[in-house]
Amino acid sequence: MGFREDFLWGGATAANQCEGGYDQDGRGLANVDLMPQGEDRMAIMTGQKKHWAFDDDHFYPAKVGIDMYHHYKEDIALFAEMGFKTYRLSLAWSRIFPKGDELEPNEAGLLFYENIFKECQKYGIEPLVTITHFDVPMHLVETYGSWRNRDMLVFYERLCRVVFNRYKGLVKYWLTFNEINMLLHAPFMAAGICFEPGENQEQIKYQAAHHELVASALATKIAHEVDPNNQVGCMLAAGSYYPLTPNPKDVWAAYEENKQNYFFIDVQARGSYPAAAVIDWEEKGIDVKMEPGDLELLKTYTVDFISFSYYSSRVAASQEEGSPKAEGNIFASIKNPYLEESEWGWQIDPLGLRITLNEIYDRYQKPLFIVENGLGAVDVPSEVGEIQDDYRIDYLSQHIQAMKDAVEKDGVDLLGYTTWGCIDLVSASTGEMKKRYGFIYVDLDNQGEGSLKRSKKKSFDWYKQVIATNGEDL
Ligand code: BG6
Repeated sequence: MGFREDFLWGGATAANQCEGGYDQDGRGLANVDLMPQGEDRMAIMTGQKKHWAFDDDHFYPAKVGIDMYHHYKEDIALFAEMGFKTYRLSLAWSRIFPKGDELEPNEAGLLFYENIFKECQKYGIEPLVTITHFDVPMHLVETYGSWRNRDMLVFYERLCRVVFNRYKGLVKYWLTFNEINMLLHAPFMAAGICFEPGENQEQIKYQAAHHELVASALATKIAHEVDPNNQVGCMLAAGSYYPLTPNPKDVWAAYEENKQNYFFIDVQARGSYPAAAVIDWEEKGIDVKMEPGDLELLKTYTVDFISFSYYSSRVAASQEEGSPKAEGNIFASIKNPYLEESEWGWQIDPLGLRITLNEIYDRYQKPLFIVENGLGAVDVPSEVGEIQDDYRIDYLSQHIQAMKDAVEKDGVDLLGYTTWGCIDLVSASTGEMKKRYGFIYVDLDNQGEGSLKRSKKKSFDWYKQVIATNGEDL
């Protein structure tokens, strides 16, 4: 028994990393537009440095992305040629509500996504829609302080009602927040939160987390009310922590890191805050304000499925000092001496995907969906413009084999798999274009120069065959 017959093979993108058209057809400015390339990016994305307007000293790759705003038909046709069953994309909130707090949406923004979904429908591609992939309209950041403010629930709910109603019959699979746990690590990029000097950052982050979690439960409730066919998922930046040694102290450190990482999903999938987190808040003097009815809402409206990104496993130890570090998905961890790493220092661990799948499935017993996985690499076109990305094929085939083992041998219930950046797009962590994940090459460099021409890499035909054989030919 292999993957289910209706297994959703496909690829994933995010609005801010590919659409461009940042000021087209009434779109408002968003936090993600203001993330420049270069050394300030990290301080800005973590909310330690306020950067709320464009300046001439920085380059802002999200302004143009890969200009999917004007190329989406061509791009979706290429996805269809690969045989995609699903395409994961995100909505730019500020395209639909340019400021975020208007009562009426921007029709041009709504129409843009409607056209995309109809284009997908033409090819029998099921859209998988992330309602927010890190983005918040800047007006909400400036006026309300973004998710630290409970008013955000009203604006997010309005966005959800509008999109669930408008796209009823076109979209069935929804994700409420991309990598919701990223709020704790990159609060400005992931949730529009900036800190003032002297503020209690932990207090603000967990208050914002509560708001997002209630918003996510509300979204789940409304999605089911609008259309009982809707399937709503949460989304986690996953990757199990291993202990550095069998020393029980290291084992405990890894256990604690995992618990911390599953904090959001515990709420979204089980419906209540984990006891240890509540004790931890008390010990640290964190006072998360809740309103009557919040906890009940969380309890009642849990998600239908759990989605996650997986790039690597991670390592924890009781004494981190002195241990060499490996780069990773925003946050670094201790280097695992048994693993190789990508050009960006992200460690490569296909078995870690099987371990992570098992861990999450054992914990929640809900269907899973891998919505990001892939290798960021420099692709160098040959003299005739071809890209022989065997390294990418190698990475993906090993990871698909691992997920196949999780399904076939471990009985994990898996709905689908979307590779990250199925078409080259701007990197979230660095803002670079040269960190490429795609099956489709986009002629654009780090400085924003290039024709934007799309071409197929070697991995394009390889993935087409993987899909055609439902994962048999790797
Ligand atoms: C995830 C995000 O963190 O990882 C994506 O959901 C991101 O937005 C992806 O692009 C890969 O990270 P990077 O930094 O290589 O783009």
